[in-house]
Amino acid sequence: MSSSKSFHDVATSSIFAVIALASLGCASAHAQTKPDTSKMPWMNKALSPDERADMVLGQMTLDEKIQMVHGTGWGVLRAGAPIPARSNFGAGFMAGIDRLGIPDINLADSAVGIRMAAYQGRYATLLPSTLGAASSWNPDSAFLYGSVIGRELRALGFNMSIGGGVDITREPRNGRNFEYTGEDPILAGTMTGQLEKGVFSQHVMNDIKHYAFNDQETGRSVVNVLLDKKAMRESDLLAFEVSIGIADPSGVMCSYNLVEGSYACENDYLLNQVLKKDFKFKGWVLSDWGATHSTVKSALNGLDQEMPGDDNYFNAPLKKAIEDRQVPTARLDDMVHRILRSMFAAGVIDDPPVRTVVDPFRGRDEAQQIAEESIVLLKNSAAILPLKPSASASIVLIGSHADVGVLSGGGSAQVDSPGGNAANPKPGGSHWGEAIYFPSSPLKYIQAKSPQASVKYIDGTDTAAAAKLAKASTTAIVFVNQPMREDLDAATLSLPNNQDALVEAVAAANPNTIVVLETGGPVSMPWIQHVKGAVEMWYPGIGGAQALANILFGEVNPSAKLPVTFAKDDTQLPHPTIPGLEGVTFTPSGRQHKVKPFDLNYTEGAKVGYKWFEATNQQPLFPFGFGLSYTTYAYSGLTVDDASHTVHFTVRNTGQCEGTEIAEVYVALPSAAKESYKRLAAWQRVKLAPGQSKDVTLTLHPLSLTVFNTDQNGWQLLPGDYNVMAGPSSSDTPLKATLRIHP
Ligand code: BGC
Repeated sequence: MSSSKSFHDVATSSIFAVIALASLGCASAHAQTKPDTSKMPWMNKALSPDERADMVLGQMTLDEKIQMVHGTGWGVLRAGAPIPARSNFGAGFMAGIDRLGIPDINLADSAVGIRMAAYQGRYATLLPSTLGAASSWNPDSAFLYGSVIGRELRALGFNMSIGGGVDITREPRNGRNFEYTGEDPILAGTMTGQLEKGVFSQHVMNDIKHYAFNDQETGRSVVNVLLDKKAMRESDLLAFEVSIGIADPSGVMCSYNLVEGSYACENDYLLNQVLKKDFKFKGWVLSDWGATHSTVKSALNGLDQEMPGDDNYFNAPLKKAIEDRQVPTARLDDMVHRILRSMFAAGVIDDPPVRTVVDPFRGRDEAQQIAEESIVLLKNSAAILPLKPSASASIVLIGSHADVGVLSGGGSAQVDSPGGNAANPKPGGSHWGEAIYFPSSPLKYIQAKSPQASVKYIDGTDTAAAAKLAKASTTAIVFVNQPMREDLDAATLSLPNNQDALVEAVAAANPNTIVVLETGGPVSMPWIQHVKGAVEMWYPGIGGAQALANILFGEVNPSAKLPVTFAKDDTQLPHPTIPGLEGVTFTPSGRQHKVKPFDLNYTEGAKVGYKWFEATNQQPLFPFGFGLSYTTYAYSGLTVDDASHTVHFTVRNTGQCEGTEIAEVYVALPSAAKESYKRLAAWQRVKLAPGQSKDVTLTLHPLSLTVFNTDQNGWQLLPGDYNVMAGPSSSDTPLKATLRIHP
């Protein structure tokens, strides 16, 4: 595949040029022939999805089977590509088998909300970034997140979501970290798994991606990732294992990159051995868009469906390979069985989507609720926060279009903003590479919290003017941003566009400076000592400004904690510069091309994020699991039950206001494990009134206690003493106890 194949030509002009064409077929669109199901025994809901799938399979011709194992092409994603008459204008389309009552599969990108709503004048809710949502450490919130996506997909006529990114934050500058759920495999796997369970709860097929080791965008279709199997299983693959175990996904999308010399979409180890055998994955493997590279090798090594389907590996060539017996028919049947059983299991055949108007109010409220649990208070010197409404106060907001909106993430996770880009409105949908702001205005909601105060905005492009206005104000709030997107990593952890200098200048002019960050992932903060407050709001979604205002004024007490380590600077990272970056050139529209193949040796192994910092004895800027509150908490009385692997301790609210503390438990394995770091093993959100104490009992995650034994190809619980630690963050664990595991 040429790297350009993986890019999407989603420019508004091209989209609207093809609408006319597509609408020719619209008379028949959404009018898939309704078959007489009374003669179809597989429509009996009392049978299992597998039984039903096999009954359908028994009726299918070779051509019908081949039709199901590939999509119909780039469609709306590429200017000039044909669009099937019944396509719902999403990222992908598989034509159903009318005579057997098998519906089309209409797939929509939907990592943080549904993509390309503008295409047909539709609306979709923008949720906080998934990395933001992971900062809640709240599995229920993740489930709600997924159910919003599932509900809106149904309303828009889609029956499959392609989201569910769970590539861990091995590379903190990865352009897609905002679509993922952080650096810890157990936390990320749990949050993404619950999210996708939420999608499934709406009778929409769900997905987990990008399998696997698509941890950076630089050279993503040519990079060959090298890592030993033990480290693979204990890091990235563990996040997939946990999320797949929870979500039981319909699909797993294999990624663009190579792993140990073989493309991920034709990688026997990843697909057959680990995903299908060890993880017992029952759904189907679909290729990332243009990530299929062969017919026979891919088919034998575990790929089940070529997407978007115009690279011509799984249509005529696969039919020929079946006829020539290069690929056994049983393998094709397995591919189709996996697709059919997932359709039955999700309910898209029994309970197909019904078009409705998306409820924007419900979606916005839920997005705000999730955002309020996602915003992390990083610094609060001299209790500058919460702000108090005051008639004499003068507040200046500086930068990042804080007068009109909040930033969103780009690429195939981009959701279209209602009314167009709030920072630069123009007709049509979003353009790849443009920073899109959603109309949730921090200025408006901050002013509403303190109606008597003077609240002003200055854009920050003139540093001296911003500093002057800050000097004349009682409080300065600088909004800094880091726009991120698919196919482009941040070259460094530094904020782009001289924003560090802006913060320094404002902080020098006004001692009461607070910084609000709208970033895709971790960034460096060379100015942190000079500001009193810092708040990470990520990309906070359509309810973001209200959520922020509620946090800044203390109506909501912040509870979120970082799901990623913030390094002081790039030199602290395992790879101080992004591997392969030097070879990347860009097209005029800012997309990657012409990257030479290269090896990327993940020498840090399973030591990702906080594990790397602990193993190399470095202090980060902010540790994994860190986040402040307007109240304080005390931990006491850790005990461990050796037989059940449960821990017990008490958390008390020692401050003046109600709050929710995320209590974290870590384990360090016995010396036989030869690990120089601890692992997250359990956590819980604990809601506490002032002065209240609660006892917390948690079971340590079994996969946090085990090592992967490659000789036995299985998880192994080593005998010995395990150091158990509990506390408010990975670098602050005041409670210690020992778990004794004896043979
Ligand atoms: C992305 C996938 C996305 C697909 C379809 C690819 O470029 O990597 O995440 O689902 O395009 O838009």
